Amino acid sequence: MTEKKVTIKDVAKASGVSIATVSQIVNGNSKNFSPKTVAKVLKIKDELNYVPDYFARRMVMKKSKTIGVLVPDISNPFFSTLVRGVEDVLYKENFITMLCNANGDNEKESLVLEELSRRGVDGFIIASSAISDEDIERLLINKKHPFIILDQKSSEENSDSIQTDDFLGGNLAASHLKELGHEKVAVVLPEKATANIVRRLEGFIEVMGKNVTVIYSSLSKEGGRRAAKDIITTDVTGIFAINDEIAFGLYLGLKDFDKSIPSDYSVIGYDNVDMCKYVTPPLTTIAQPIYELGQQTAELLLERIEHPEQEKVVKKLPVNLINRFSTRQI
Ligand code: RIB
Repeated sequence: MTEKKVTIKDVAKASGVSIATVSQIVNGNSKNFSPKTVAKVLKIKDELNYVPDYFARRMVMKKSKTIGVLVPDISNPFFSTLVRGVEDVLYKENFITMLCNANGDNEKESLVLEELSRRGVDGFIIASSAISDEDIERLLINKKHPFIILDQKSSEENSDSIQTDDFLGGNLAASHLKELGHEKVAVVLPEKATANIVRRLEGFIEVMGKNVTVIYSSLSKEGGRRAAKDIITTDVTGIFAINDEIAFGLYLGLKDFDKSIPSDYSVIGYDNVDMCKYVTPPLTTIAQPIYELGQQTAELLLERIEHPEQEKVVKKLPVNLINRFSTRQI
């Protein structure tokens, strides 16, 4: 026989208070009640093993304690580390993270955003570039949803903003190769580069000058591997892989042509994901504070949810060179 589900009515009856009182107290809104009433209601709730209904709770509190997080590629360690930072902060504040992988698909992204909005999430963190400005307006601004768009795209005019210094990152990568004597260099990046990646390229060109070989490939290990066949037809000695995933792909791709790093090519990556330390040779790269970026984004969003009227916040986090063994003096 199935046990009868304990309802809020049962708790109210056993505590001798109204259903509204129980609802407020079990949802953490106890400031309007005496400590005695609060203690009694919570005790009876535990004794009866009452579990508040999620949807009912949403109706009362107009809050779901849930944040929707959208990333373009969860298999890329950059995004999994970012989400770890986000989730650690949200979890401590009793929020649940609802993670969606957009896969760079604009249609999927709109559908997911609409669905998250229907499910009543309290705010959005979007690290994907697929979202269009129309969707930002239609799905987020018009519905007054708190949100932060970061990394591949930003929406500084409409929301708080947190970015890392991509231009400086490009500068640092170029200066490093230049100091090692590399004058002929290539950059591997996607043809339809997102705004943050374009800034990296601009920073790189500022130091290296316009005489940079640009090789287009996708932002993935496979993209890096494929780029190797173009690299070997050039006379470059240094390669700036616009993210670490591309750099890892280059390791394998160049090996397929019997080329080695750093004796044939110096390679510098971007991100400083955990794997950089474990490949051979360990990858020299530009480090973004990925985990902190996730943490600070979540903190900023929670502040915005708490204080919707406060001044917009704009933050830029630093990047730095991590010198390992994939580049050499020539
Ligand atoms: O590795 C993913 C890359 O794309 C990172 O460099 C990140 O900044 C993103 O835009």
